[in-house]
Amino acid sequence: MTNKRPIGIFDSGYGGLTVFRSIADLLPGYDYIYLGDNARAPYGNRSFNTIHQYTWECVQMLFDMGCPLVILACNTASAKALRTIQQRDLLNVDPSKRVLGVIRPTAEVIGNYSKSKEIGVLGTKGTVQSGSYLIEINNFFPDVKVSQQACPLWVPLIENGEHDKPGADYFVKKYLDQVMAQSAKIDTILLACTHYPLLLDKIRAYLPQRIKVVPQGDIVAESLKDYLHRHPEMDKKLTKDGTRQFYTTSDDTGDFDHHATMFLGEDVKSSYIPLK
Ligand code: DGL
Repeated sequence: MTNKRPIGIFDSGYGGLTVFRSIADLLPGYDYIYLGDNARAPYGNRSFNTIHQYTWECVQMLFDMGCPLVILACNTASAKALRTIQQRDLLNVDPSKRVLGVIRPTAEVIGNYSKSKEIGVLGTKGTVQSGSYLIEINNFFPDVKVSQQACPLWVPLIENGEHDKPGADYFVKKYLDQVMAQSAKIDTILLACTHYPLLLDKIRAYLPQRIKVVPQGDIVAESLKDYLHRHPEMDKKLTKDGTRQFYTTSDDTGDFDHHATMFLGEDVKSSYIPLK
């Protein structure tokens, strides 16, 4: 235990690092703890109950490490666990803590990226089946048509370090072809899984140039900045010594460090945090 009160960033594995990177760039002064549940990733194909249980366990670990605020840097967890955590779990445990997700901030702005008013949303099976993006985007942009596509093999490719190998190309092209086949008017593709930016080069290579590909990191970072501005009571609680700590539920911290260093572009030394 330290006297730090960091912002907690949670993902099932490595994907949240793409969001953390944007957050740490925009708000470098805060203390951060990143927690990846690599031992149990991917979450994407798991049931509602399992995703909620895993996510809530990890959120509580971050609370125990002193975080008053946790960002679920994972669409699957945001789609399947956030509401129960916000509306039930927090009230039972500590109503002064806050947990925020990535879907709403993304839905709030994504309609502005499209001229044709047709967006393709790529996510895990869990995110797509939840219908969260359809509902949320429709709230903010009722005139925008959303086509969804699940890409169930992308996260396993990334978690296993195969995303930049030639073998990944077949599955990248397959899901892109499937989403583009839904409507020729799509001009914007939202990467609604925090892992997918790691496939960005390949995704761009298989899409026509006119298509805008939008990762969420910068959107979520801007939204967090705005949240902290609107909630000075939370901002005051957070300590600001610019420290970063990394935890993984996998005992292979060497593997985590290797991936995370590559994804973040800075040296990462993680610690193992065993699941209870
Ligand atoms: N990174 C997570 C997301 O944004 C999903 C990864 C997983 O399937 O575990 O949805």
